[in-house]
Amino acid sequence: MSNPGQAGGVSPERVRAAADALRASCCLVVLTGAGVSKESGIPTFRDALDGLWAQYDPALLATPRGFRRDPRLVWDWYQYRRTLIAQAQPNPGHLAIAALERHLPRVVVITQNIDGLHVQAGSSDVLPVHGDIRLNKCFANCQGDPTLVDISALEWDAEAGPPRCPHCGAYVRPAVVWFEETLPPDASDRAFALARAADVMLVVGTSGVVQPVASLPFLAHEHGATIIEINPSRTPITRLADWFLDGPAGVVLPQVVAALAEEGEGGHA
Ligand code: OAD
Repeated sequence: MSNPGQAGGVSPERVRAAADALRASCCLVVLTGAGVSKESGIPTFRDALDGLWAQYDPALLATPRGFRRDPRLVWDWYQYRRTLIAQAQPNPGHLAIAALERHLPRVVVITQNIDGLHVQAGSSDVLPVHGDIRLNKCFANCQGDPTLVDISALEWDAEAGPPRCPHCGAYVRPAVVWFEETLPPDASDRAFALARAADVMLVVGTSGVVQPVASLPFLAHEHGATIIEINPSRTPITRLADWFLDGPAGVVLPQVVAALAEEGEGGHA
């Protein structure tokens, strides 16, 4: 259902309508997925040709079972992704999301991305519900969940696998949420509370198939929020959307923020 050739092709009327809905918002929640970072050079998961899960098996690389089976493979794969992410810069989509804070009273970003690019772009309230690839923790969480481990101080033989936890000797793993794991309770509780309280939810670049995050737009909609979706392809969320802007985030979001800035000139107090 993708719309090749739609880049920048959203009509000015729909861009303005989305900007109008945002302008009326007092509690905006922006929910993002891998699509928002694609234009920074970070692959998505489910795009048919270049998505990570088209090339790699998530059961082997992103589950506790996979890590137990082959810790070195999983560690090396995350090290590879860390290298990609370390080279990436926020793109105009991330910057536009950060710029929303100049026009609206309250903006919170809930992201499934583990790349840190929203914070780097200047968003001040970011809830990374799937963790942060730049952090590591003990696989056994021996000192409580999460037992974060600073690997910069450790020496280990990379040929032999991941570093070991200095407290208990278990392997160290990336501090991200894998399949078959639950979200950290604090992050999950806050995400659900935000979805219930949002008056507008802006959903950007997620396929909307991974739970529990995929249920957040449905919860927001049930509680009366206006749903705006930006994605080059339709998703299960699209049928809820009051406004669906079908294009890449790095093109469409700056247009929406420009419309918000233009018509809001004179400003919101
Ligand atoms: P997906 O890869 O499932 O979906 C990416 C979405 O981004 C798709 O709907 C694309 O159409 C859309 N997209 C592609 N290019 C875009 C662009 N330039 N601008 C806007 N949208 C674009 O990624 P997520 O929905 O984030 O979890 O995946 C959710 C979770 O599944 C991830 O956090 C990860 C993954 O497995 C774990 O690793 C636990």
